[in-house]
Amino acid sequence: MSLEEQLKQLRNKFLHEIGRAKNIQALSDLEIKFLGRKGEMSRILKGLKNLSGEEKPKIGALANELKNQIVNDLNKASQVIKGEAKEELIDLTLPGKKVMYGRLHPITLVKNELADIFTSMSFMVLDGPEAESDFYNFESLNIPPYHPARDMQDTFYLKDGNVLRTQTSNMQVRAMQKYGPPLRAVFPGRVFRNEATDASHETNFFQFEGLMIDKDINIGNLVATMQELISGVLKKQVEVRLRPGYFPFVEPGFEMDVECLNCGGKGCPVCKHSGWVEIFGCGLVHPNVLKYGGIDPKKWSGFAFGLGLNRLVMVKYGINDIRLFMSGDLRFLKQF
Ligand code: PHE
Repeated sequence: MSLEEQLKQLRNKFLHEIGRAKNIQALSDLEIKFLGRKGEMSRILKGLKNLSGEEKPKIGALANELKNQIVNDLNKASQVIKGEAKEELIDLTLPGKKVMYGRLHPITLVKNELADIFTSMSFMVLDGPEAESDFYNFESLNIPPYHPARDMQDTFYLKDGNVLRTQTSNMQVRAMQKYGPPLRAVFPGRVFRNEATDASHETNFFQFEGLMIDKDINIGNLVATMQELISGVLKKQVEVRLRPGYFPFVEPGFEMDVECLNCGGKGCPVCKHSGWVEIFGCGLVHPNVLKYGGIDPKKWSGFAFGLGLNRLVMVKYGINDIRLFMSGDLRFLKQF
């Protein structure tokens, strides 16, 4: 084998061995083994004396180059082992990590849409407490203690006497007291009920409430506002129906249903097989509630509505189980 070939082999052997060197000691052993006085390189170069005058400088130069490469490799490897050369640890050939983008929850998307619709009609958007006093959640809404309407909204009672609010209506008297008439405000937020869960009931859901107080407010104003809301969110013509409903804080009171877009009105678990989804409670603000808010019912009147945001989102996107919203299932959330 020519000296040139032997040097090449030496280079390969070195690369193979340095790849396995795990510590500084192993590196200095390698240095002795390859470049030491009795090392592999010297052994090969002993053959120099047999070469012709022409060949000697050529092989000499080659051997020098190899020696420099080995010294360089040993230096780099020792830096890596000592942790000095951090960039050496980055393997640029590895495939990159995929960046996961977050996105808004479908409830938030629709809430934002509704807030836009109402701010364009000069409504304020107000936030409110989720742990609420009995007064704002029930009493000021014309629901005294022992009123049977409390049974419809069983909730979680806290040790300090507050309750987890059962409805965003808790903001009605708060807003009246703070801003006085005339008043236009919407209150989106989370509410709680103590009930058994199924495809259309959750213990923890969202409402979007609205309140307008002015001179001579009537049912026509209420219905027109509801229509604006529904067509703004669903972006298509859908059947709605208004029927009498009882809420102690409105008089007269209504419930508004939207045709079930999930089944097209045929009947499915979302609409409890009725073809309609109950979405709104609404009506004209009861005079007692205005009084609690410090507003004279002889001078002012108003309407209020409260809609179940989860149900509206279900109708809009054709979602067939309310429990999906809180499931944390990315396969569901990624679709919006
Ligand atoms: N708060 C009522 C509910 O949760 C809905 C409602 C709001 C009804 C405003 C009338 C007026 O069922």
